[in-house]
Amino acid sequence: MALWLQHLTHGSDERGPMNTVAPPAPAGLPATAGPPAPPAPAGLRTRYCGLVGIEDVGKQVHVCGWVARRREHGEHLAFLDVRDHTGVVQCVVDGASALRPEYVVRVTGTVRRRPEGTANDQLATGDVEIGDCVVETLNESEPPPFVLGSPGQVDEAVRLRYRYIDLRTERMQANLRLRAVVNAAIRRSMDRQGFLELETPLLWTPTPEGAREFAVPSRHQRGAFYVLPQSPQIAKQLAMVGGIDRYYQIARCMRDEDLRADRQFEFTQLDLEASFVGERDVRAFVSDAVAEATESATGERPSEFPEMTWSEAIDRYGSDNPDLRFAMELVDVTAVLAATQFTAFRAPAVKAIVLPGGAELGRARLDALVERARGLGAKGLVWMRAVQGEAGSGAEGALDLASPVAKFLAADERAGIAARTGARLGDLVLLVADAHRTACEVLGQIRLDLGRPPVDEGPRRFVWIVDFPLFDGTDDDGRPQAAHHPFTMPHPDDLELFATDPLAVRAQSYDLVLNGWELGSGSIRIHRADIQRKVFAALGIDEHEAQARFGFLLGAFRYGAPPHGGFAFGIDRLVALLAGEENIREVIAFPKTQSGSDLMTGAPGELSARQLRELGIRFLEP
Ligand code: AMO
Ligand code: AMP
Repeated sequence: MALWLQHLTHGSDERGPMNTVAPPAPAGLPATAGPPAPPAPAGLRTRYCGLVGIEDVGKQVHVCGWVARRREHGEHLAFLDVRDHTGVVQCVVDGASALRPEYVVRVTGTVRRRPEGTANDQLATGDVEIGDCVVETLNESEPPPFVLGSPGQVDEAVRLRYRYIDLRTERMQANLRLRAVVNAAIRRSMDRQGFLELETPLLWTPTPEGAREFAVPSRHQRGAFYVLPQSPQIAKQLAMVGGIDRYYQIARCMRDEDLRADRQFEFTQLDLEASFVGERDVRAFVSDAVAEATESATGERPSEFPEMTWSEAIDRYGSDNPDLRFAMELVDVTAVLAATQFTAFRAPAVKAIVLPGGAELGRARLDALVERARGLGAKGLVWMRAVQGEAGSGAEGALDLASPVAKFLAADERAGIAARTGARLGDLVLLVADAHRTACEVLGQIRLDLGRPPVDEGPRRFVWIVDFPLFDGTDDDGRPQAAHHPFTMPHPDDLELFATDPLAVRAQSYDLVLNGWELGSGSIRIHRADIQRKVFAALGIDEHEAQARFGFLLGAFRYGAPPHGGFAFGIDRLVALLAGEENIREVIAFPKTQSGSDLMTGAPGELSARQLRELGIRFLEP
């Protein structure tokens, strides 16, 4: 139930300590955004279909492509729309009868203006057509499994099964070309900033980053396995020990995790690492690459990459990936309710959000909101409608909050909530009382449910989230868990807290968020054995386990590791957001389904008995 209200976009600009890392616009930018113009046509053609224009009138041209559509006009005249990757052009053919959709053709003819009144302003080539056509059939096609040009209506399973046909659609052509533009821009930025492109192994060894890894059995060493890297994390840190200084890679990463709209098994990162740098340096490198990519894709260079601390993000948005396109910020009303008689509100924190105009929501919607909050882990949710105070309510004539639980709240508590939240007549106030983090996160999610704009709407709002905690919660044995990975450098001011309050230790780590999506994360790494030992100890990793799991990295650190830090962001996610797509599948040429299958190839599939024998693999009965 996305209530995308234009007036929600105000606010959230004026508040908070937002330091800005605004990357300067470099010289020599591409003049126009989007894919570069195609090269001069060669081979079988002299023009691209979508680029035939008025300037060609009177010229003989050869175009090649697929038959997009064919319309008969009487017995001896047919209009043929021919498509290539640049667009469509209309060809007028005398009785070309055997042609069907998706036949591959070469058309030779003379460009002419369309007759008066028949121009098509929906089409880039709509002022012209190719006349007197001779059509050569270069290949035939079976009837395609779906009609191209009707996206949305085609079942995605069919699109994925016949991805090679789906790739011919305007949408996929545009998305994949946009992706190439983004990659090129990223390379330009990284090269300009002096980063060296380096390839790291795909047959790798387990690394402690948290995701389940894909294993690859070794034929030469039976019973031994490689793993596919979930990221080049350790390889790039070793490259820093190796004096590479500034490394980058457009790196394929593999993670065996549950798939979602923003997650695939295989995805691509811009991965980078640099030596002798601090957090701000790394953020500036990344901001430049992202700004360059965004400008190349959209023509607009983002001027602001503000920073917000993790605590502030949780407090104001209930999320470490805040979507800043709309306001509806969380408000703390704990102080107003410090002495309340209403037991549900006697909690460490009471947080509220206001849904503008939400007082008109009916009981069914409100009950659904309460259920949603419970499903998210809250004990309940209180809703209050901002109304005109009734006689005897203690708020006669003024704004009051009406709710089934209003009677448990004193008039000054209701007035306090209304004042703190800034609710206006007709608004709906939603409140959750709980531990601070829970109250924030539940309302943060409800804020998104109620107010989040569609992916392709509103401005692009980047934000750096900084000062993450080093540890995020504890495991069953009460031991802190690494929030990022165990090589993240703690904040220098917080080293004392290891002994007293480890969960309060801040990390030198940072995430980049765009419109509520985590684009990427990174950190300054630990390069000193004494600090690494402290962190391992807090995580409950003893010397023996540390050696067994990442001895090769710790070994390398004994030979002069420079201070270093880095970052990785998901290119699939950035491209999806720039393309206005909800699912990263739409910007990946050959993606997997939600259940991890490739419907086109049938992967994952079986190995032959011989392959299994060679690998020494036999399956256990389920
Ligand atoms: P992290 O694990 O946060 O950090 O990953 C960085 C970014 O990669 C993208 N991403 C994904 N995209 C699509 N499908 C997935 N399954 C997937 N998983 C992650 C996200 C994410 O923000 N080595 C560290 C970075 C560093 O510290 O330098 C790392 O990989 O956009
Ligand atoms: P109960 O006392 O559980 O019957 O709840 C009374 C009302 O308060 C219901 O509308 C609950 O959804 C709401 N409620 C209960 N606990 C909380 C809480 N921790 N935060 C917000 N609302 C709550």
